Order: sequence, then C-alpha cells, then structure tokens
Amino acid sequence: MKICKHFSECGGCRFQDIPYKEQLVAKQDKVKDLAISHKIDIELKPINPSPCEYYRNKMEFSFADQEGLVCGLYSKRERRKVVDIEECLIFSPDLGEVLKAIKDFLKEKKHSVYGKYSHQGFLRYLIIRETKFTKEIMIGIVTSSSEALDVKEFIKVLTSLKLKSTIKSIYQVISDSFSDAVVFDKKELLYGESFIEERLDDLTFRIGIDTFFQVNPYAIVDFYKKIREYAGVSSREQVLDLFCGVGTIGMFLARDAKFVWGVEREEEIVDIAWQNAKINKIENISFFVADSRKFLNTQGSFYKNTDFLIINPPRCGLSPKIIRAILRLEPKNIIYSSCNPEALFRDLEGLLDQYSLDFIEPFDFFPHTPHLEALSLLRRKNLIK
Ligand SMILES: C[S@@+](CC[C@H](N)C(=O)[O-])C[C@H]1O[C@@H](n2cnc3c(N)ncnc32)[C@H](O)[C@@H]1O
Repeated sequence: MKICKHFSECGGCRFQDIPYKEQLVAKQDKVKDLAISHKIDIELKPINPSPCEYYRNKMEFSFADQEGLVCGLYSKRERRKVVDIEECLIFSPDLGEVLKAIKDFLKEKKHSVYGKYSHQGFLRYLIIRETKFTKEIMIGIVTSSSEALDVKEFIKVLTSLKLKSTIKSIYQVISDSFSDAVVFDKKELLYGESFIEERLDDLTFRIGIDTFFQVNPYAIVDFYKKIREYAGVSSREQVLDLFCGVGTIGMFLARDAKFVWGVEREEEIVDIAWQNAKINKIENISFFVADSRKFLNTQGSFYKNTDFLIINPPRCGLSPKIIRAILRLEPKNIIYSSCNPEALFRDLEGLLDQYSLDFIEPFDFFPHTPHLEALSLLRRKNLIK
C-alpha cells in the first residue's frame, strides 16, 4: 500500500510504514506474550489478516480554526493541532471530495468553529460512515445550536458530488454538551434514510448514525463465519448473546440454532437489531434492552446451562461481578471475543477454574494500528469426558 500523504503528521494510523507481514507478526507476538505473562497455556491460532486499504467503515473528524477552517484528525506531534485531511487510505476513496465540498460550503457560509475550552462556536465534528459491500454513505455533521445550517444548500452540495459510493443519509447532530466526545443530544435527519445497510455473507444489517458496528466489514465477515463454524450450534441448542449490539453474531448463529437471545443496553440499538431480524426473516431470535450483569442477576436462572454464551463486551471487558454471574449461569460453552486482549486475558483468569480454553485466535480488524481482536472458545470442565 502506498503511504498516505498525511502519514508523518496524522495520529490516525501509526504503523503504515511497517510492512503488513511484520505488523501481523507483532500482533501475534503480543497475544503470545500476554498468554505467557498470565501463565495461560493455550493453543494460539495464526492471526487472520485483513485487506489494508479502505477497510474502515466509520471515521470521526474534528473541526478546528487554525488560521482558517480545517477538518481532520489530531496530530501525533502537536497535541492540540488538527491535521487538515485530504485523503485517508484506510477509509474511503471518496473522502477527499466529500471533505473538500463540506469545507468549501462551511467556509462560504462563514460558520464558526466550536472551541473546546471556550465552549463557543458552531462546528464540532463530522461523522462519515461507508458500507463496503453495498457502497452506501452516511454523513453526520455535529454542531452546537448556536447557528443555523443552510440545510437545503448543504444537501445540494453533497448530493451533487460524483462519488464511487452513494450518499444515502445525511444528519445534523446538535450537541451543546461540554463533553469532548460526540453526544447525540438531538439528531435531525436532513436527507434520505435514517440508516444505511451493509451486506455480510447473506445477511443485511442496518447501521444508524450512533449505532455500534464493527469497523472493518471485510474482517468481520470472516470472523462471524468462523464463530459459526467453531460453535457448530445444532438445531436443538440455544444461544445467549450478551452485549449483542445490532444482533450480528446472534443472527449468524440463529441460522443453525433453536433460539438466540440477545442482550444490549441501548434501546435504539435494540430497535435496529429487531429491524435486522425482520429484514433477514430470522424468527428464532429475541432481544432484551438490559444491562448484561443486571440481566444475568435477575433472569439468569431461566437461561441456566445455556448451550452457548457469546460475550463481546466493550474495551473495558468484564467486571468481577459479571464474571461471577456468568459462573452461576453455567453455560456449556463460552465464546468470548474482545478488541482488548489485555482485558480478555484478565477475564479468562476468572473463568478458567471452571472452564477449559480450547484456543485463542487473533483477527486483525485494524491494520496499520496497534489494535487487534482476539477470539476465545471455552468449554465447561465438568462436561468434558
Ligand atoms: C463491542 S460491542 C459488540 C456488539 C456486537 N457483538 C457486534 O459484534 O457488533 C459492545 C456492545 O455492548 C453494548 N454494551 C455496553 N455495555 C453494556 C452493558 N453493560 N450491558 C449490555 N450491553 C452493553 C454496547 O452498546 C455495544 O453495542
């Protein structure tokens, strides 16, 4: 892959100048070292590579006023500087044109930039999502409520672009929050559909402006297919999918299972999960809006001894309390996958008294960055003959 023109400055992907094979070796070694430091004796499967170009389906850029309007990612050299991005080789070939059109429009309208410290001004962030297999784009401009956007003109500028993908959805997210993260106080659909759709294997998934969706569709198809293969769920078996998001893993397994239950904390994400079940005509799946730990504590007895427990938590991993709840549930098999291998190994220590670890398999969801996903399969010890 050629090196991006912003590489020397941009803090987006740090490993672009390291040959991809070496990146994979470094990630595999990282997992090996973690296993050694946690004294966990494992079969470590070879890391699954990913395409390296244009693999990400979501980017979040910041606006800044640096002697003029810029929009991009923070610099790796100067903490407060935003690198004005013109291309991003891990995101989309359409990005340059989209960013240029948006910046030209905003400059012409003389909109102000929101100050991180002054909390004054209008423009905050720009969220762009692009599905890879269906080539759909969603744009979300995040602003404060201090100025008015010329919505008609904004839509016209964007929809008249000649792009490889199609702009299907445009949002304005209005946030007056002092928080540095994007807060979806109020979201207004300015144009098109409220979601875009990605096609993974033979399933379709809807993605909203604020839904969690794994960032690398090329890698996750292989990942979900492998989960399906390793689980080998039969039509008599049931699955409980904790931290289920929009239901992706559950729906891959529902095609084999008797029934799948998904548990997700965010109501809007569960709404999309239900829509996904409907459009994929999957009837043997159901979702709960609940905190996973509270769900296990209050309803766990109904799912005791479940055949498969899927755990795919946020980066922080599991708390000791939820690990105890999982042990009380006594699932026969556990598939635990994490984008934070440190948290995975820490949590495995709490499970390995009662479970044996079949293997760990790393997946490179994030080429050119230090991050990786690690999948593990555990079997309840008192079931193994
Ligand atoms: C890493 S994502 C996994 C999503 C899904 N398994 C997938 O592959 O797309 C974690 C999900 O857990 C949800 N979540 C975070 N904390 C939670 C909690 N305490 N209880 C239930 N869901 C939670 C998040 O909203 C997010 O959708």
